[in-house]
Amino acid sequence: MRDHSATVLDVANLKTVFNTRDGEVHAVNGVSFYLKPGELLGIVGESGSGKSVTMMSLLKLLPMPPAEIREGQIEFDGRDLRNVSDDDLRRIRGGEIGFVFQDPMTSLNPVFTVGFQLVEPLRLHMGLSKAEARKRAAELLELVGIPDAASRLKDYPHQFSGGMRQRVMIAIALACDPKVLIADEPTTALDVTIQAQILELVKELRQKLGMAIIWITHDLGVIAEIADRVAVMYAGQIVEHAEVKELFANPQHPYTRALLETLPRMGEARAARLPSIDGQPPNLDHAPTHCEFAPRCKHAFTRCRKENPKRFEVNPAHDVACFLAQSGGSTDA
Ligand SMILES: Nc1ncnc2c1ncn2[C@@H]1O[C@H](COP(=O)(O)OP(=O)(O)OP(=O)(O)O)[C@@H](O)[C@H]1O
Ligand code: SF4
Ligand SMILES: [Mg+2]
Repeated sequence: MRDHSATVLDVANLKTVFNTRDGEVHAVNGVSFYLKPGELLGIVGESGSGKSVTMMSLLKLLPMPPAEIREGQIEFDGRDLRNVSDDDLRRIRGGEIGFVFQDPMTSLNPVFTVGFQLVEPLRLHMGLSKAEARKRAAELLELVGIPDAASRLKDYPHQFSGGMRQRVMIAIALACDPKVLIADEPTTALDVTIQAQILELVKELRQKLGMAIIWITHDLGVIAEIADRVAVMYAGQIVEHAEVKELFANPQHPYTRALLETLPRMGEARAARLPSIDGQPPNLDHAPTHCEFAPRCKHAFTRCRKENPKRFEVNPAHDVACFLAQSGGSTDA
C-alpha cells in the first residue's frame, strides 16, 4: 500500500457537479489519486471524461456557481485545500502549483506583454523587486528555449508562434518554482515536431527542477514516453490506474484495452486525438449507479448494470474498477 506521508498531493473522493438550467451535470464522480514529489502522473480519457474539471476543482478555478464541489478531500503539501482561505488559495495558484491550461490563447492575456505576465506572478508570489523580476523573467524564457529571451519580454502573445506561446505558458507556470505543475493537454494544438520539443523540454526541466507533474493528454504514446504512472478516466471516474509499464503490459479495464488496441504500431503516425471507440459517451445527468461503461462494453453482464464497480487492487502498482477483472473473468454474478 502507498505511504500517504510521502505524497505532495492527495485527492480523495472528489465530486464536482454543475448546476445548470437543464439539471445537474455530474462531471467528477469520486476521483481519488495521489502524486509523489518529482513524479509524473499521466491522465488520459476521452473528451468530456472530466480531466480538466478535476484539475480545475483542486484550485477552485471553475465558475462557482454553476460548479459545486460536493464532496472530497484535497490535501496539498500538508494543507487541506478545501478549507484554506481565499488569500492562501491565490498564493498557491500560480505559486506553489503551476497550471498550463488547455488553450494558451484564452489563458495568455492578449493585451499585456509576455514580460508583464511573467513579472506579475514573480512580484506577487516571490516578492521580487521590478528589476529582479525582469531579470528572472528573461531567465525563465531562456530556460524554456525562447531565443533572444531578454528582448522578447516586450512582445505580446500574438507575436509568438504556437509552439513559442506554449513555451511562454510553461515559463509562466514555472515562474515561482512550483512543487506541482499541472499541464492540461499542453501540446495537442502543436505540430508533431514541436510537440516532441516541448516533451523533451519538460523531461529536462523535471530533472533540473525536481517538481511533480500531472500531464493530461489524449496521446497514449506521450504517456508511454514520459509518465511514471497513469490514470484512465471515464465518466468522471478513474477506472484504471497503474505504473505505466504495467498498464501497457497488463491492461485490465475493457475501456483501457480498447484504447490500447487502437494505438498506432511502431513506425505508424501517432494520432493527435484519442482514438474513438464505438458507442456513445456516457450521459452525466446522474451520479453513477452502475458501470457507466456497460452500454459500450462487450463483456457487460448483469452485475455491471446494477452496481458501480469500485477500484480494487490488482497488485500494489495497479488498480481497476471493473467487475469482470475483479472476478477473474467470471460473469456468474
Ligand atoms: N461550465 C460548465 N457547465 C456545465 N457543464 C460543464 C461545464 N464545464 C464542463 N462541463 C461538463 O463537464 C464534463 C467534463 O468536462 P471536462 O472539460 O473536464 O472534460 P475533459 O475530460 O477535460 O475533456 P477534453 O478532453 O475535451 O478536454 C463534460 O461533460 C462537460 O460538458
Ligand atoms: S464492470 Fe462490466 S460493463 Fe463495466 S467495464 Fe467491467 S465488464 Fe464492462
Ligand atoms: Mg479538458
